[in-house]
Formats: sequence, C-alpha cells, structure tokens
Amino acid sequence: MKVSFKELGLVNTREMFAKAVKGGYAIPAFNFNNMEQLQAIIQASAETKSPVILQVSKGARNYANQTLLRYMAQGAVEYAKELGWKKPQIVLHLDHGDSYELCKSCVDFGFSSVMIDASSLPYEENVKLTRKVVNYAHKYDVTVEAELGVLAGVEDEVSSAVSHYTKPEEVIDFVKKTKCDSLAISIGTSHGAYKFTPEQCTRDPKTGKLVPPPLAFDVLKAVEKKLPGFPIVLHGSSSVPQEYVDMCNEFGGKLPNAIGIPEEQLRKAAKSAVCKINIDSDSRLAMTGAIRKHLAENPSHFDPRQYLKPAREEMKKMYVHKIINVLGSNGKAR
Ligand code: G3H
Ligand code: 13P
Ligand code: ZN
Repeated sequence: MKVSFKELGLVNTREMFAKAVKGGYAIPAFNFNNMEQLQAIIQASAETKSPVILQVSKGARNYANQTLLRYMAQGAVEYAKELGWKKPQIVLHLDHGDSYELCKSCVDFGFSSVMIDASSLPYEENVKLTRKVVNYAHKYDVTVEAELGVLAGVEDEVSSAVSHYTKPEEVIDFVKKTKCDSLAISIGTSHGAYKFTPEQCTRDPKTGKLVPPPLAFDVLKAVEKKLPGFPIVLHGSSSVPQEYVDMCNEFGGKLPNAIGIPEEQLRKAAKSAVCKINIDSDSRLAMTGAIRKHLAENPSHFDPRQYLKPAREEMKKMYVHKIINVLGSNGKAR
C-alpha cells in the first residue's frame, strides 16, 4: 500500500535547503541502522532544535528491514514531539539509491527524499536515470539528490579506488536536464574511516599527527558560481574523531591510521552552498568505542542495555557537537 511522507509527519528537503543556503549553514544527514542510533539522532535534534535528515542506505534496508525502518522514522516524529520539539522537521532519505526501482519503492513507501547515485555511469546515462527518478518522485513532491563526480572508497557496494572531482563545466547542463533538487559533488571527501593514506598526508611537526590534504574548495567555488543558490551536498564527511579511534584501539580494536575530514574544513563548507553534510562513520566509531570500553571495564555485563546506553549517550553527544559546532543548524527548526 502506497503512503505519502506527508501522512507520516515528515518533510521533504526543498524549504529546508533553501533556508540553509541563505543562512550559511548545513543540515545534518545522519545514517541510521538501529534504534539506538535513531534515538540519539532525535534526542540531539530535538534538544538543539535542528532540522535533520535520517538516512537509510540500501545496506541499512537489508540489515534492519525496510518496513521496520519506515515505521521507526514515523515513530521518530512522534518521539521528537514527546521530547518537547513542537514542529520537528525530519526528512526520511534514501542514501545512495542505485536503481529506479529502489527509488520508486522508497517514494511509495513514505520516504520524503531519495538519492539516485548514478555517478559511476557515463554522463548521459547518469542524466537519463536521474531524470527518470525525478519524474516519478516529483509527482509525489519527494525531492531528489543526484551525484556528479566520483568519491574514492565504497559507495554502497560501488567502489572506486580513486576519486574524480566534479567537473564544474558539467553542472548547469546536468541540473537543467535532470531537474534534480540537490547535487552531491566530489571535492576530496570519501566514505569510511580511512579517507586518506598516510602517504597522502603530512605530519604536524609539533604533535606528530597526520594532517590530511585540504578539500578542493576551488572546485566547490566554481560549482557555486555556475549554480548560484543551488543546494550542494557533501558525502563522506565524517571527521573520524581521534578520541573514538583511540577508545576503540585502547579496548581491543584495531583501527590503524584511521583519518577523516578536519572539522574546520566542514565548517567552511557549511557556510557556502553546501547545505547537506553526510555523517555515518563517526556514529559507528562513537558507538563501537563506547561499547568496547564498557565491556572491557565491566566484563560481567551481558544485558545489552548496559552497554548500549553509554553507546547511545556517546552518539548523542557527538551529534549535538556536530550540529552546534560544525553544521550550525541549531535553532533552525523551532
Ligand atoms: O555512504 C555510505 C553510507 O555510509 C552507508 O553505508 O552502505 O554500509 O550502510 P552502508
Ligand atoms: P562517512 O563515511 O564519512 O560518514 O560518509 C557517510 C556518507 O556519505 C553517507 O552517504
Ligand atoms: Zn555517501
């Protein structure tokens, strides 16, 4: 049975993005796969009154079951109100949709936004597939994110060893032809907790820590110039906080040389036309670090609530920090 996102109390990204571009901040797009992540995201968003995008990947749908995730998102709206957030602005978004059928199924199933990621296809095929998804989604007022350029790393089962920056000369034609609502671009971010090899980094002589190469802000600027005011999206934007990497490693984990995007670079991006910043790995690291620490310190515990509670608290702390100190979206959904 088809259901509209509007019946579920969700919103699409249109107005949210227009405000974010104007206001010089970005909307957090947090991936979730389980109840604890969702609780932490909603608690953080409600507390800071930040609009939020709940992202569901194909992998998340396979892991948690799409029906369950849909009802969890619906429940999240009610939970947000219960927490005292009068007008929650919550988007349910398909992350890295890789086919028309998957995107259609999400539109029919109550998602308010979908991404069609055809960035690994030749340009004209990317245009064609994106246009097809837009045609269907717009009938139901569902907004569509598309992608031009390729990020290094794993993109929901499509992997690429090297990144190809978005070509600014293509963006006007692409947006005009596809009528997409937002565009993910490649400017040097990548998915996962290993965004750069140590060889790609320099070392801070004082601390000895790895310093990653800067993002290609010249490409972002050129895209902005071609598409003034158009919503731009950054994937692969976890900063891989060292405290969580250390927490994992100190309590039995093995994450050597994990490295992310420095937060000041993301702050700079959020002030530009970038109005959606995707974060998944940081939540995984916070959760795993906290669970490892708790179990190592409490070897007799076996009730999952005992170790999931501190994990949820750690994720919430991380989400609040991102919203206030990186994205600047706090107070934008009162
Ligand atoms: O971009 C990928 C997201 O981090 C989702 O990852 O496909 O492992 O759920 P996943
Ligand atoms: P991270 O792996 O950097 O968290 O990126 C997540 C993402 O882009 C989801 O689409
Ligand atoms: Zn992504």
